[in-house]
Amino acid sequence: MSVPKLSLSENTEAALAKTRAEVVVVGTVRGADGLELAAGAEAVDAAFDGELADVLTTMGATGKAEETVKLPTLGRLPAGVVLAVGLGSPEVGPEDVRRAAGASGRALAGTARALTTLSAVDLQAAVEGTVLGSYTFDRYKSEPGTAPVGTLDVAAPEEGTTRAHRATLKAAGTIAEAVTVARDLVNTPPNDLYPGSFADRARELAEDAGVDFEVLDEKALARKGFGGILGVGGGSSRPPRLLRLRYRGPKARKKVALVGKGITFDTGGISIKPAAGMDEMTSDMAGAAAVLASVLLAAKLKYPLEVVAHIPLAENMPSATAYRPGDVLTMYGGRTVEVLNTDAEGRLVLADAIVRACEEDPDYLVETSTLTGAQKVALGNRTPGIMGEEEFRDRVADLAQATGENGWPMPLPEELRSDLDSKLADIANVSGQRWGGMLAAGHFLREFVAEGVPWTHIDVAGPAYHTGSPWGYTGKGGTGVPVRTIAAVLADVADHG
Ligand code: BES
Ligand code: MN
Ligand code: ZN
Repeated sequence: MSVPKLSLSENTEAALAKTRAEVVVVGTVRGADGLELAAGAEAVDAAFDGELADVLTTMGATGKAEETVKLPTLGRLPAGVVLAVGLGSPEVGPEDVRRAAGASGRALAGTARALTTLSAVDLQAAVEGTVLGSYTFDRYKSEPGTAPVGTLDVAAPEEGTTRAHRATLKAAGTIAEAVTVARDLVNTPPNDLYPGSFADRARELAEDAGVDFEVLDEKALARKGFGGILGVGGGSSRPPRLLRLRYRGPKARKKVALVGKGITFDTGGISIKPAAGMDEMTSDMAGAAAVLASVLLAAKLKYPLEVVAHIPLAENMPSATAYRPGDVLTMYGGRTVEVLNTDAEGRLVLADAIVRACEEDPDYLVETSTLTGAQKVALGNRTPGIMGEEEFRDRVADLAQATGENGWPMPLPEELRSDLDSKLADIANVSGQRWGGMLAAGHFLREFVAEGVPWTHIDVAGPAYHTGSPWGYTGKGGTGVPVRTIAAVLADVADHG
């Protein structure tokens, strides 16, 4: 819920001799002849007379990915403990550092102050990984769990200036914090997080960050004809909302529109879902959370961009006032949709928000949602599906790979479009066939994107929410995916247009 305090530290024997950290983190790798120390561990090794690798090997450590071993320093350092964490193979990339740092973050629970030297290998990855790995959410526990690490000293890499290191630390800390903002929202249960309360929280966060905030309530939505959002939200006693948050940076050169699905709970509506696993639909607002966190991040990092986030919020419930299979909705902008399945609700609220976003002529449109179970069938739980206009889609997918969120480009095969033809309205919300469900949803969304706008949709149905045991920097519950991908897209557009 809260992020550790971060401070840059030197990584010399002199600095280590006076550190106030209780634990010093070093990296290990699995070399051809056994465990080796990673870059950054030299000063700690010196305190062990050059025998740290041997000591760790004696204890059974191998340097394999995410292995953690704690060692007492027995007075060799003011810090009482060395935490050795495995990076795996000696060809270390940023994601190896992020995952090892994540494992260290989990192992540091209960530590007031720690010093990490993984940052000597990759400063940004070490900070992101440690902060995200140490994340906990215990707001709903009567007894709080072990507290995450309170202060993290980050050892500076050898190359580069202090000024550059400070800037990287700030960016990494801000990105990690944005991920935790999204995780907190996803982890808040649906009895407390509904359209109205999401809007209230978004307003607070926007005010703190100096971001413009507007909200349309159900009356305003009806006046302006947002038939998709009103249709989906009509079954709930807690009415829908549409948020617009706008940040305009100094010398803003490009305008990026963001759209995120905010279904605060998805029962399926009248086309109700089976009971097993329905609780996971608390995560059906993960796209909204990511987009909210991203516009705040753009403001905090003062990107030279205009970033406008559009967030449709609704609760998809079955009731006497719910929309039905067979209904025809008139969407914002006037197009009509035949609803054949009320569980394909995300695309309906997104379509309204896409039309509104396109009215402002953005240079790019990035949308994200927990759109389809078909994303999980196609790509599993750790690989977002990225659809859209091909050139921009590939650019976003490359950036997603670089962040470690690992989104993958997906096609929109032309022959799937006619499956959405409706006998009654302009288009139907589902296709008559099972196959390619993510792509059918992509086709539906594409119909609402204005001509010529480079557009992409990131389907994170699986990746946004983790139900298994912790791995790397990902614990149970909301993961914050795809905040880091969106942050990377914003940084890339700020740099290259
Ligand atoms: N929110 C779900 C998609 C989803 C499924 C997210 C599993 C996370 C985990 C979405 O609203 C939905 O229900 N989609 C349907 C579409 C179908 C009716 C065409 C689906 O995927 O089954
Ligand atoms: Mn649904
Ligand atoms: Zn849904």
